[in-house]
Amino acid sequence: MTQTAVVRCEPYETDETLETISTEGIDMSNLDIFEAFSVESASGTEVREARAAYAARPFFSFNANRARLYHAEALELLRCARTESVDVIFADPPYFLSNNGVTCQSGRMVSVNKGQWDMSKGPAADFEFNKAWLSECQRILKQDGTLWVSGTLHNIYAIGFAMQMLGYKILNDIAWYKINPPPNLSCRYFTHATETLLWAKKNDSVKHKFNYELMKKENQGRQMQSLWQITPPKPREKHYGKHPTQKPEDLLRRIIVAASNPGDLILDPFVGSGTTGVVSVRLGRRFIGIDACEEYLNVAKSRIGDAITEILDGSGR
Ligand SMILES: C[S@@+](CC[C@H](N)C(=O)[O-])C[C@H]1O[C@@H](n2cnc3c(N)ncnc32)[C@H](O)[C@@H]1O
Repeated sequence: MTQTAVVRCEPYETDETLETISTEGIDMSNLDIFEAFSVESASGTEVREARAAYAARPFFSFNANRARLYHAEALELLRCARTESVDVIFADPPYFLSNNGVTCQSGRMVSVNKGQWDMSKGPAADFEFNKAWLSECQRILKQDGTLWVSGTLHNIYAIGFAMQMLGYKILNDIAWYKINPPPNLSCRYFTHATETLLWAKKNDSVKHKFNYELMKKENQGRQMQSLWQITPPKPREKHYGKHPTQKPEDLLRRIIVAASNPGDLILDPFVGSGTTGVVSVRLGRRFIGIDACEEYLNVAKSRIGDAITEILDGSGR
C-alpha cells in the first residue's frame, strides 16, 4: 500500500529542510522482514520455521502499518530476520550496570538497579550475549546500512571489541554530553557526564549512507562534530509511563536524520519505551521494535500510536 501522507515533524532550530517530510510514492507498509529460512539439516529447518511462525505475530501493528512492535527475546527474533533487510539499527542494550549501587535522582539517593534484565552475568557471558546479537544485526543490515549502539564504560568497550571481532568498521565514537548529570555521591571519582554511541557499517568494503549536508546545516554550516550536547528526555516524553533508561527524542532524531532517508526501515532490538519508534515515524521512516518486557512495550505502544495519529491527522510535530 502506498502512503501519501505528508509527515510534519518538529524542526531542528537551525534546519528548515526538515519541517516537511514527504513519504509520497514510498511503500510504507512493507515491514515483513521475518520469515522462515531454509537450512541444511531437517531439525534446523523445523526450529527456524517455528521461530518464524512466532515472529509473524507482532505484539502490536500500528495504524497504516508503518510500525510494528514484537514481544520477544531480541536474539531469537533477530535470527528470523531476512538478510540485508534493514537500513538502520539503533540498539540501546542492557548496560549491565545494575550492581546494587546507588545514584542520585532529583536530589535523592536511589538504587542504580534498573531491573533483572540489566544484571551482569559476568564479563565473559555478557560479551557472548553482545557478540551474538551484534552478529545478527550485521547480517540483517543492508549493504549501505549502519548500526548505532549506545553504552557507558560498563559495556561499551566489550561491545566495541565484539564489533571489531565481527568485522564491523567503526565510523565514529560519539560522546553524548549530558549537560546536567546527577552528582557523584561517593565523591571518590569524577561525575559521569557522557554516554558513548558507536556508529558502524557492516564491514570496511561497503559505502554507507550519511546525510552529511543535513548534519552540517544543523551545526550552523560547520561540520558536525562527534561531541553532542543533548538534554535528557523532556517531561512530555515521559508522559506515557516510566522507563528507567529512556533516551531523549532529540538524540534519536539526530541519529535517524544522519543515517537514513524517508521510507527507510529502522530497527531497535531493545526498544524500551519506544523512543526510536516515535522519532522514526515522525521522520517518515518505517519502524520495527523488539523488547522482552511487556510493560515497556505498552508504553511504547501508546507513544508510537499517538505519534502516528498526529501524523495522519496532519497535526504531527
Ligand atoms: C536500555 S533499555 C532501552 C531504552 C530505550 N532506548 C528507550 O528510549 O526507552 C533496554 C531495554 O532492553 C530490554 N531487554 C533487555 N534484554 C533484552 C533481550 N535479551 N531481548 C529483548 N529485550 C531486552 C529491556 O526490557 C529494556 O527495555
